[in-house]
Amino acid sequence: MNPVELRPGIHWVGVNDRITDLFEGQWPLPYGVSYNSYLVVGEVVALMDGVKAPFAEELVANIAQIVPPMEIGYLVVNHMEPDHTGSLPLLRRIAPRAEILATPTALPLLESFYGIRDRVRTVADGERLDLGGKVLSFHPIPFVHWPETMATFEETERVLVSCDAFGGFGALDGVLFDDEADLAHYEAEAVRYYANIVGAVSKPVLKAIEKLKGLPVEVIAPSHGLVWRRDPGRVLDLYRKLARMEGEPAVTVVYGSMYDHTRRVADAVARGVAAAGVPVRVVDAARVHPSTVLAEAWRRRGLVLGSPTYDTGIFPALDHALRLIVGKRLANRVVGLFGSFGWKGGAVRKMADEMAALGWDFVDTVEFPGAPRRDDLIRAEALGRAVAERVKG
Ligand SMILES: Cc1cc2nc3c(=O)[nH]c(=O)nc-3n(C[C@H](O)[C@H](O)[C@H](O)COP(=O)(O)O)c2cc1C
Ligand SMILES: [Fe+2]
Ligand SMILES: [Fe+2]
Repeated sequence: MNPVELRPGIHWVGVNDRITDLFEGQWPLPYGVSYNSYLVVGEVVALMDGVKAPFAEELVANIAQIVPPMEIGYLVVNHMEPDHTGSLPLLRRIAPRAEILATPTALPLLESFYGIRDRVRTVADGERLDLGGKVLSFHPIPFVHWPETMATFEETERVLVSCDAFGGFGALDGVLFDDEADLAHYEAEAVRYYANIVGAVSKPVLKAIEKLKGLPVEVIAPSHGLVWRRDPGRVLDLYRKLARMEGEPAVTVVYGSMYDHTRRVADAVARGVAAAGVPVRVVDAARVHPSTVLAEAWRRRGLVLGSPTYDTGIFPALDHALRLIVGKRLANRVVGLFGSFGWKGGAVRKMADEMAALGWDFVDTVEFPGAPRRDDLIRAEALGRAVAERVKG
């Protein structure tokens, strides 16, 4: 995509990545992702964040449409993750005078990732930098996403370059701004991004939202996905809700099944939820990627998990998804469990053990040998109804 001037003197010069299949080597990108990089042109030129290494030439070509890249005075490194810093080695060669600006916490990472030690200046919390006609200020938001992360605010145009905070998956489909975009698509991609990438650091996200409130922001320009100029409050609200892990008053039923015994009960649970007038989504853990299960679970307050007993434990696809959910420390769920077994069982108890640390509001279990009988299906519907009633309240 060609550069876009988002406010006078502030240009998006990033790239769309439509060829990486797995972000961070594990999260599927069916609609791609953008690495947003912003060029602030004052008397001195500053580049805020870069792109992943294979796209460095494209970034430089975009910059060259605005200013000669060798004239860049500052490279602002808001975050050291290589999706934003992979272009640093090339930028250092092309803009030899440029000074890197980063938090003190970024220094060891600059050295260990790229062997960079010189022409680096650390910035303090709230420090301002006058570029001549444009003024930057620096605001660390530790652990959103890594300890060294900061946001940069351009004061004259009131643009907050927020880095991974308020970002989303999904390459830019010919549009940069919230007022031009298919928001349903980008917000779904933002939920998936949130759950997969920043979910585990939700407390720092809430701290960052509080901290950045003090700035008179008119435009939120994250490092992935849309730039929010019509309604920056909308992405803030979305992130606040996701970070608080409230979840919609709805239920996700996630299950695995080999011979339909557990699957039939998943349907019965869903019937019970729907009968209570609560929206429900049924997910087969073996048929969607665990990252999708995680995002679906993050979305809704109710979570009912079903697993047949497999080798004395949990069905592997469901186990993988559950471990991911536990690892990301998803809180505030209203939960039910169910599952079929052949001779001794164990899956339901092991699911209960795995989730014990999360302090979830546990409703009930439906465990049964072999095929579900009429009575099991009635109990499963009742479980769905009970979870639904509790997420409503
Ligand atoms: C590979 C395999 C391993 C199993 N391991 C156990 C087990 O350790 N304990 C048990 O009680 N049942 C075990 N079973 C039996 C299943 O739990 C039982 O058939 C159940 O009804 C399957 O439910 P489903 O149709 O929803 O997959 C196993 C079945 C398979 C195919
Ligand atoms: Fe990151
Ligand atoms: Fe990122």
